[in-house]
Amino acid sequence: MRMCWFITTLSIIAFFLSPAYAYDLNPLQDLCVAVNDSKASVLVNGKICKDPKLAKADDFFASGLNVRGNAVPQLGFAANIVDVNKMPGLNTLGISIVRADLEPQGLTPLHTHPRATELITILEGTIYAGFLAPDAANIFKSRLFSKIMNPGDVFVIPQGLIHFQYNVGHKNATLLASFNSQNPGIVMIPSTIFASDPPILDDVLAKGFRLDKKVINELRKKFS
Ligand SMILES: *[C@@H]1O[C@H](CO)[C@@H](O)[C@H](O)[C@H]1NC(C)=O
Ligand SMILES: *[C@@H]1O[C@H](CO)[C@@H](O)[C@H](O)[C@H]1NC(C)=O
Repeated sequence: MRMCWFITTLSIIAFFLSPAYAYDLNPLQDLCVAVNDSKASVLVNGKICKDPKLAKADDFFASGLNVRGNAVPQLGFAANIVDVNKMPGLNTLGISIVRADLEPQGLTPLHTHPRATELITILEGTIYAGFLAPDAANIFKSRLFSKIMNPGDVFVIPQGLIHFQYNVGHKNATLLASFNSQNPGIVMIPSTIFASDPPILDDVLAKGFRLDKKVINELRKKFS
């Protein structure tokens, strides 16, 4: 009995520690087109679906990936995403896509997608892409996995890991990235940490990053 309890506890802990717990759920019906009604009082894990009889081809269609998205000032990158918010037919299907454009020295800063693995394909230009994997033997260390990528090259970022893309070429670069989530989410590490509202107590950042509080304040100013 005690062993049984131990195994159950272990399984529950393993479940919550596993990076796989956040995968999108499998659909339980053929069509579950998202209703985009902010007034709907029902909130579910995802979006509520419209009556399948009312689904139409346009629910499963989007256009505009032939052009770059809006550029992020100072970083030289632009993202144009087709997720469930843009294409309601993606609801419950566990997939989405983004086009990213980077100018020379354009950077997609260190970030994570909490709900998706990302598969990057380079269409144009030269990109230095990489992700950081925690070192299982020492949680205070990590390993960098990186590649210099050219058109046709494909790289995968495992779910939830911190990663980046940087244009190391002399011309604009374009990539397509697909995600195994209808809504991969994004956590930009630098601004999430230094531009939070309200701000985190200085002591937490100064001690956590082993920096002087003056430096923390400078970083806050740069990011807010
Ligand atoms: C759904 O609503 C959001 C927020 O109001 C909006 O940005 C988005 O364009 C809408 N999507 C569709 C497909 O109408
Ligand atoms: C490169 O991208 C920038 C926008 O990020 C754009 O203004 C410029 O025209 C592009 N250059 C070429 C050669 O396409």
